[in-house]
Amino acid sequence: MQAETPRSGRKALLIITGVVAGLLFIFVGLAVVPRVLAHYFWPIERWYRSAPVQPIDFPHPSHVQVGGIDCLFCHRTVAKEAMAGIPPVEQCMFCHKIVAKEQPRIQMLASFAERGEPIQWMRVHRLPDHVHFVHEAHITYFTRKDGVLPSQVCSTCHGDVGNMQRVQQVRSLRMGDCVDCHRQNGAPTDCFVCHY
Ligand code: HEC
Ligand code: HEC
Ligand code: HEC
Ligand code: HEC
Ligand code: HEC
Repeated sequence: MQAETPRSGRKALLIITGVVAGLLFIFVGLAVVPRVLAHYFWPIERWYRSAPVQPIDFPHPSHVQVGGIDCLFCHRTVAKEAMAGIPPVEQCMFCHKIVAKEQPRIQMLASFAERGEPIQWMRVHRLPDHVHFVHEAHITYFTRKDGVLPSQVCSTCHGDVGNMQRVQQVRSLRMGDCVDCHRQNGAPTDCFVCHY
């Protein structure tokens, strides 16, 4: 009887170690494996990329569908510069001094304008700093090639923003995606084109 104790004690220790190691293995697996897979497969990565919450919930459909406002009216530099640009509060107030001014979100907007405080919009699409992207080249090329308006080119990379209550990234825009499209269109694929 007395000789049993250390042996069963060792057995219990073994079981506990086994269970702990097993749980750790499952936990690490659940935490790490999807992240690693997400690096390679865009549909998995998309689960992690929820649409960010904005300081003021900005509805594209109200502007694009209801208001009939062109993308370039707000994203003014998209066909001329690297960045598309987001309008300053003063430009919003051009309409919202009158349009929907009794609505709570517009009252929030008006208080930003009164304080002269810029709205810190959260970025939805963001490439790492070592990557160089130029809207202008893409808009110019595809408006010519497909004979369409600049605002009809956006959906190629951004999807149907005009119908999104909250903007979400819908295309991977990872290196493989960029390079594939460059190959298909005879655009340059040298490293220095996209990397500083
Ligand atoms: C050219 C005119 C115009 C400009 C510029 C404009 N809007 Fe609007 N906005 C509208 C119209 C039209 C609606 C739809 C109103 C409706 O549904 O009755 C709207 C609706 C909205 C709503 C929803 C209001 C509600 O019903 O709760 C928000 C929020 C809003 N705009 C924010 C902005 C912000 C922020 C900017 C600047 C980045 C901006 N708007 C610039 C015309 C404009
Ligand atoms: C009335 C002004 C207005 C119009 C018109 C408008 N946008 Fe926007 N857009 C904004 C504002 C403000 C934001 C920042 C808030 C947000 O992300 O919802 C934004 C954000 C975006 C973003 C996300 C930017 C990021 O952070 O990655 C994309 C993409 C975009 N717009 C595309 C479009 C396209 C395409 C159209 C036309 C179908 C369009 N927008 C029309 C004002 C406008
Ligand atoms: C070839 C793909 C592509 C096309 C076409 C495209 N975009 Fe983009 N857009 C991107 C990428 C990639 C980013 C992120 C850039 C970065 O982080 O430097 C971006 C970022 C943005 C942003 C946020 C940053 C900024 O540049 O102000 C807005 C707004 C935007 N796009 C609007 C538009 C609009 C409007 C159109 C159509 C006129 C358009 N884009 C067409 C790929 C594209
Ligand atoms: C839908 C197709 C498509 C996608 C997606 C795309 N590109 Fe392009 N890109 C082109 C084409 C076509 C050109 C050549 C334009 C020309 O000949 O003027 C180009 C040109 C460029 C240029 C050269 C601009 C200049 O200075 O002349 C850069 C930089 C660039 N792309 C970066 C990117 C990056 C980074 C991505 C991914 C985030 C990307 N592109 C995604 C089609 C695409
Ligand atoms: C058409 C644009 C484009 C070209 C050409 C391009 N890259 Fe990239 N590269 C990207 C983008 C976008 C990213 C960031 C997104 C990602 O990691 O896929 C990136 C990321 C990278 C990274 C970081 C990867 C990581 O996991 O963080 C390396 C390293 C790299 N590129 C090397 C290269 C080399 C070497 C070449 C030439 C053989 C090249 N790239 C050509 C667009 C490009």
